[in-house]
Amino acid sequence: MYLLGIESSCDESSASIVEDGQRVLSNVVVSQVKDHAVFCGVVPEIASRKHLETINEVVEEAFRLAQLKYEDMNAVGVVYKPGLIGSLLVGLSTAKAFAYQLDCPLVPVNHIEAHLYAPHLEWEIPFPNIGLVVSGGHTLLTKSHSFTDHEIIGSTIDDAVGECFDKIAKYFDLGYPGGPVIDKIFYNGDPIAYSFPKAKFKGDQPYQFSFSGLKSAVIHQREKFLNENHKDTVDNIIASFQKTAIDTLIETTLRACNDLNISDVVVTGGVSCNSYLRKAFGKLDSIKSYFASPELSTDNAAMVGGLAYHLLKAGVTADLSLNAHSKIVKRGKVLE
Ligand code: KG4
Ligand code: ZN
Repeated sequence: MYLLGIESSCDESSASIVEDGQRVLSNVVVSQVKDHAVFCGVVPEIASRKHLETINEVVEEAFRLAQLKYEDMNAVGVVYKPGLIGSLLVGLSTAKAFAYQLDCPLVPVNHIEAHLYAPHLEWEIPFPNIGLVVSGGHTLLTKSHSFTDHEIIGSTIDDAVGECFDKIAKYFDLGYPGGPVIDKIFYNGDPIAYSFPKAKFKGDQPYQFSFSGLKSAVIHQREKFLNENHKDTVDNIIASFQKTAIDTLIETTLRACNDLNISDVVVTGGVSCNSYLRKAFGKLDSIKSYFASPELSTDNAAMVGGLAYHLLKAGVTADLSLNAHSKIVKRGKVLE
């Protein structure tokens, strides 16, 4: 069964054709990073206009690379939440037009669930597992029971971890997006030069995250040294920041694994490309961690076409009145 996946929730326009939820026949991603870099963050109005300009070509290219025709598709899966509303609407309208024209099912896909699916494209991963979603917009810990059943056990109460990387890079004038730049600088600095605070949660919500205190501490440290402006100091602050942020993610994930007696961990989202994060998870003997390749970890439509296959098999389809939503709809602790 061939599915077309479409993703346009933030600043990547992407289309992919996936066979039987597993075999990625094409995965075209056009990033808008250059258009937003001057603002050090995504400008929603620019993002939706750029999606409009590129989405048709991206879909065409996905078909060309897969060497398939429109009529070969059995369904179209599309991200309809969460994300930037104008951006989501471009992908959603494209998917609706496709489903209408070809008279094939339209499958609504949650962007976070799609990220959680990405490592399943490359690995066989047992359930239940713990999912750590770390991106520019989200930081979530889940207990995942199946591809489509995820219980949220923790999330950030303020900044997402990727947002924190991006904002710190902006303060230090390092460019956008911050994650990849900071990941490189990390190796020039001393990661234990500074001791930055780690937010710890106890009680009935022990797996929450908070990064705004860390962000403020790092910015204050920079201001302290601004006059000296030694590169060495900047490298040390950045390295210490990355270690603190990533160690916090790992420690909370490990606590959840221990408490819930689960040893398989899915790590996904743009921040999961972080080299220190990958190495540190890899060194742990008590758990087995699963990462997707970097191109499937950041926003892409292969994870959408892949998950849509399982949703379709479970009977999840939408009609043409499907709307986009900017936020995750949480009912209780279930990711919907
Ligand atoms: O998943 P993604 O492509 O888009 C969202 O859904 O947000 O994630 C983008 C985020 C950005 O904040 C970016 O700085 C971060 O992922 N990122 C990284 C790395 N590569 C990308 N963060 C840390 N280390 C990296 N190597
Ligand atoms: Zn994402």
